[in-house]
Amino acid sequence: MSSVGQEVAVPAALHGDDDERRDSVDCVIRQRFASRAFSKRTVSKQTVENILDVARFTPSGANIQPWRVYVLAGEEKDKVSRALLKAHREARDRYQSEYQYYSPLLPEPYRSRREQFGRLFYGALGIAQSDHEARAGQTAKNYDFFGAPIGLIVTIDRRLQIGSWLDLGMFMQNVMIAAGARGLQTCPQETFSKYHVLLRQFLPIADEEMVVCGMSLGFAEPANAASLMPKAQVNEFAKFIGFDA
Ligand SMILES: Cc1cc2nc3c(=O)[nH]c(=O)nc-3n(C[C@H](O)[C@H](O)[C@H](O)COP(=O)(O)O)c2cc1C
Repeated sequence: MSSVGQEVAVPAALHGDDDERRDSVDCVIRQRFASRAFSKRTVSKQTVENILDVARFTPSGANIQPWRVYVLAGEEKDKVSRALLKAHREARDRYQSEYQYYSPLLPEPYRSRREQFGRLFYGALGIAQSDHEARAGQTAKNYDFFGAPIGLIVTIDRRLQIGSWLDLGMFMQNVMIAAGARGLQTCPQETFSKYHVLLRQFLPIADEEMVVCGMSLGFAEPANAASLMPKAQVNEFAKFIGFDA
């Protein structure tokens, strides 16, 4: 591993309060959303490299850094999209993800939140919940990376355990935050895991790697704002213990 210990010096400014720094980090986190419409404006390889160069500072248990990323652009990205779109159109029942993202029996409050997501998401698109064709058409847009100029495919070594998946999630969030700080938006997409067999035909994904997720990356179209998701308040998920007030 390169440059051991050379990159971790903490600048003096980070020890004190800095309203500007706080506001900009808060703002990037609050303004991130799952963008499902991107402009054609290109994103350079250098920009994606810079984003990954920040995200590599993600923490991970015992610093094992379990993330692997394939960055797609241009004709190579389009080739992957075409193959997945064809499979989605013609033979989607033949493909299966190597892991299960959702519990088949979602308990409360998660079930209600998922239902609310469905209502808001498909409602904003004018798609009835029962319109399976229209919903499949919307799902198809995932495989085109929603028109984004950059598509990421994220994998993890299947021999690792659930703890490493925590690390991977943090890495993905850092990619999204670093992208947001550059005026870009993203959409993390588990839908890509379903077509891992096809992805392996295009990308040098080793047998021991499991496809976890894709991610669209680019400049968001304003129309996206229609599907901004509500978030639970702090008192719904946190309990404060041992404070005076
Ligand atoms: C790991 C992960 C996988 C996701 N997969 C998809 C996906 O395949 N397609 C999609 O449109 N959105 C996907 N999403 C986006 C979620 O629907 C979205 O994050 C959620 O509704 C909350 O909205 P927000 O990100 O705008 O706050 C995924 C999100 C995460 C974190």
